[in-house]
Amino acid sequence: MLNAYEELEKHFQRLARIEHAMTFLQWDQLVMMPPGGSEARARAIAELAAMHHERLTAPQLGELIGEADQQPLDTVRRRSLLEMVRVWRRAVCLSADLVKAKSLAGSKCENGWRTQRRENDWRGFLGNFREVVDLAREEARARRAAEPERFTTPYDALLDLYCTGDDSDFIRHVFTELKRQLPELLDRVPDRQPEGLADLAGTYPLEAQERLNRKLMTCLGFDFNAGRLDVSLHPFSTGDRGDHRITTRFRETGFVDALMATAHETGHAAYESGLPAETDGLPVGRARNLCLHESQSLLFEKHLFQSRSFIDFFAGQVRNALPSARKFSGGDIWSASAHVTPGLIRIEADEVTYPLHVILRFEIERDLINAALEPVDIPEIWDEKMQAYLGLSTRGNDTDGCLQDIHWTDGSFGYFPSYTIGALNAAQLFAAIRRQYPDWPERLGRGEVSFVRDWLEEKVWRKGASMDSQEIMREATGETTGPAAFLEHLHARYLDRAY
Ligand code: CO
Repeated sequence: MLNAYEELEKHFQRLARIEHAMTFLQWDQLVMMPPGGSEARARAIAELAAMHHERLTAPQLGELIGEADQQPLDTVRRRSLLEMVRVWRRAVCLSADLVKAKSLAGSKCENGWRTQRRENDWRGFLGNFREVVDLAREEARARRAAEPERFTTPYDALLDLYCTGDDSDFIRHVFTELKRQLPELLDRVPDRQPEGLADLAGTYPLEAQERLNRKLMTCLGFDFNAGRLDVSLHPFSTGDRGDHRITTRFRETGFVDALMATAHETGHAAYESGLPAETDGLPVGRARNLCLHESQSLLFEKHLFQSRSFIDFFAGQVRNALPSARKFSGGDIWSASAHVTPGLIRIEADEVTYPLHVILRFEIERDLINAALEPVDIPEIWDEKMQAYLGLSTRGNDTDGCLQDIHWTDGSFGYFPSYTIGALNAAQLFAAIRRQYPDWPERLGRGEVSFVRDWLEEKVWRKGASMDSQEIMREATGETTGPAAFLEHLHARYLDRAY
């Protein structure tokens, strides 16, 4: 006879098998599936999602949780139970009607957005978006009501879905310091950028680029016996133990962006591949939160791949693979990759300006969900903040302003901060690695990255969700997430041009 806790383990492992099936159906949909398959695929995924939801919210599960809670459990299992409860609570606290209404309003708004964005049609967008915001506020209130002791504002209840454990007050505090220091740093960058920047534009055949990107993944420790590289419209990473799927995208006219995207997604896959095998299929064995997930991808992209010494090493591979790149030195490639220009578009933003795009979104979505701001006022406040933080105006240009992102269209409020908390975590973790390995430039210059992977595996990957994010950060780096290491990194790279 299994006891209640053991029953729960079995139950969650079964749920993980449904998730496995959905993961690969979704991957196929984004990477391989011809358009004709979309209807049947949507039906199959919806069926599995409904089955998953039904099993996760079954009354029996609530009873087992109550029983397991009374059981004497060791700390490992107690923690595991806590994470099961978190997943379960998130599912049971919303009514089926709300979930359905949200999904319908989100699809409608997202579909409309695809043309409304192109046509700079804020009015049209607003027609659908009001409903999305109303439902997101309702969702936030319901989630908060389920755990009033954890969430001080409605927005915190949505933020927790992505930045689990890092609340809005903590994030505001960290962002305030960034907001204070970044503009000044940004002002000083232009004088330090090299004058004659090598123009890397050329013709780079896609097959050769693909081979080069696979080489990069191998250099970064990716195991092709346990994963694949494919191509998709937007690079992403997914998969399951032993089968990590990442995608990238190629342009014939350049090669740097694809390499950066590949390094980024390889970092996401590395985190997943290092999660603890002994709690496979259980909530406690999953990645802690998106702030840490994004920190691993950004560490691989910005600190490993983009470091001067690694690029010097990898430039040899680039020249071998791409004949039209033979004239470029490591320094040429590095300088082109580390160029700063403030712009209107978040996804095109460089490392220095990116956080300002995120802070602006964080402030707006927080006020929106907490009902301190109405949807109709977004374009104006967006423009005000763009002027204040980046010195650029989006007045009359919502296409490149508040209509540019997909996140809000389906109600994914609370996602944006993970990009910048991730960047801060990455810099802070890499600073700790540099302290432990003072010869890191020589190592990276030889293409050696195993010391970084081993360190991350021990300090971050193997922890799964067995600790809170800030406990992981404190144990690994000595401090909770803060802006200092990130600002030092920007200073070293963009003012001292050191690495
Ligand atoms: Co990412």
